Amino acid sequence: MKGVLLHGGHGTRLRPLTHTGPKQLIKVAGKPVSQWCLEDLRNSGVRDVAIILGDIAPLRVVEYYGDGGWLGLNITYIYQGYPHGLAHAVYCAREFVEDEPFVVYLGDNIIFEGIKRFVEKFEDSDAAAQILLAKVPNPQRFGVAKFDKEGRLIGLVEKPKVPPSPYALVGVYFFRPPYIFKAVESIKPSWRKELEITDAIQRLIDWGLRVDYDFITGWWKDTGTPEDILEANRILLDGRISKVIKGRVSENAVIEGRVYIDEGAVIKDDVVVRGPTYIGKNTVIDSETYIGPYTSVGDNCYIRNVELEDSVVMDNVTIKDVNARIVSSIIGAHAVIERKKAYPSGIKFVIGERAKVFI
Ligand code: DAU
Repeated sequence: MKGVLLHGGHGTRLRPLTHTGPKQLIKVAGKPVSQWCLEDLRNSGVRDVAIILGDIAPLRVVEYYGDGGWLGLNITYIYQGYPHGLAHAVYCAREFVEDEPFVVYLGDNIIFEGIKRFVEKFEDSDAAAQILLAKVPNPQRFGVAKFDKEGRLIGLVEKPKVPPSPYALVGVYFFRPPYIFKAVESIKPSWRKELEITDAIQRLIDWGLRVDYDFITGWWKDTGTPEDILEANRILLDGRISKVIKGRVSENAVIEGRVYIDEGAVIKDDVVVRGPTYIGKNTVIDSETYIGPYTSVGDNCYIRNVELEDSVVMDNVTIKDVNARIVSSIIGAHAVIERKKAYPSGIKFVIGERAKVFI
């Protein structure tokens, strides 16, 4: 089975973090969200994957994943550009998939239990498509399944005001060509001017083709908002991080619980790090610092004299002498947060468009 990973879109709800890069490259528990997806594909036996690129810094994706060899994958890149919708993105992959069954993975979805059993199920079936559903408290935010009285799947509605069931479409779809491509050719853009994958799958149902469904029972997240990123970070740190110390820890530093300290990182004296926590490559945690549970710090950061908890700090960030506790925060790459004595006293900002500061 081939894989198609969607890496486009504009990530508007995650601005300003998505002004300079795709949302799927935001790191949680030490890895970009889309890397968790790619590893899930690999662990499910998929080797050939096409990454569909959008128009926000697509080269950063190519630079990061390369040919995929380091992940045990063979990656091909396809440029979608402007986000014309999930069905349009899938259609971009038609030459790549040829006549093989394929799985589409939205690069901002994290499925804790992984998709291996669903890949195997689809391989053993001859269905035209297979979708995954999860019971959610807020179906209005998703594509939603509609069943008849006998429990047969009869339809899918994208972001309905009145949801026909509490079952949301999870961002992993299985297809057998050529049906899905014919279906995409037959649909029109929706009210949000996108070619919706839900409409294309609805066509398959209407044409009487077999569309199987299954349920995800474990934790699943579409990481579309800052709150989602923090939750995904917490769950992955909790479930996927063990105590690993590759970097250097000073004798007078205290490391408690499951803390992953990556290569080249340095934890100096007078520091407490409490897991589950991830400290990235070549990051320096200097004195008078407490890094609390559920925190991921990226690569090449410098942190001193601050308390940090339940937060995601991206690469190349400097946080110095803040002498306060930063909680539930997402700090973008190359940001600098520093308390400096200067007159006139006060708080000084140089912050990007749509940044959010709560003090
Ligand atoms: O997460 C599950 C939900 O994903 C489903 O329940 C919905 O039925 C489905 O439409 C989708 O809804 P979203 O509104 O969350 O989709 P979003 O625009 O966030 O796009 C999902 C992913 O696909 C994201 O990683 C960006 C990427 N994408 C999106 C579009 C519109 C592309 O690569 N190209 C595109 O044209």
